[in-house]
Amino acid sequence: MEKRGTFIVVEGGEGAGKGTQIARLKELFRLTGTPLTITREPGGTPFAEAIRSVLLSSEAKDVDSLAMLLGFFAARVDHVQRIIIPALERGEVVICDRFDASTFAYQIYGRTASDMFWNLRQRVLELLPCRPHYIVLDVKPEIGLDRVMARARQGGQPLTHFDSQGLAYHDRIRRGYRHFFAETTGSLTYIDANRGVDKVFKDFLLEVERLLR
Ligand code: TYD
Repeated sequence: MEKRGTFIVVEGGEGAGKGTQIARLKELFRLTGTPLTITREPGGTPFAEAIRSVLLSSEAKDVDSLAMLLGFFAARVDHVQRIIIPALERGEVVICDRFDASTFAYQIYGRTASDMFWNLRQRVLELLPCRPHYIVLDVKPEIGLDRVMARARQGGQPLTHFDSQGLAYHDRIRRGYRHFFAETTGSLTYIDANRGVDKVFKDFLLEVERLLR
């Protein structure tokens, strides 16, 4: 029988703590020797990382959301074909920091006609050997933005044009996620990410273990 891995997508707004949670999981899996492919969007391949640097740069700040949508999908198709599908076909667990729910929340919700998004999404899902499991780290925008600002002040990840938008923008992103998941079927778990790292990790790990059972 064909080997097939598990595709786990971690989603959430700015400062939800996706990177921190995924890094913890990586360390734990390293200790137990379980093969794990950790990747991110936009990015994951040289082509997609090159697109990422354009999409996150200040040049992209006022670019039309249709152009942004196409940019994120251009990166996604290469990433899916070169990294995600081969890893799943090797039977590995793939953890992807952001995927198509981000595109809906950031580029589509409350902005653009969504037909093109749903068509492109369908095309990508047809490429994949299995459906994604989504874990959403749900954070209130005011808490998430505080974390992002604190991280930037401490010399960590610099702010992108996405981070620098106001509360109303981030609130729309949060509602955009809810709308996306209301429109889709499949595996979905929401985790309250307004709490401390340890508490969130307990729930996150439980969910990943459940998906791998
Ligand atoms: P990043 O610094 O990786 O954000 P985070 O650490 O919060 O994941 O930057 C990725 C940015 O790209 C993030 O602000 C959301 C945005 N994005 C979209 O707008 N659409 C998309 O489809 C994806 C994957 C990301």
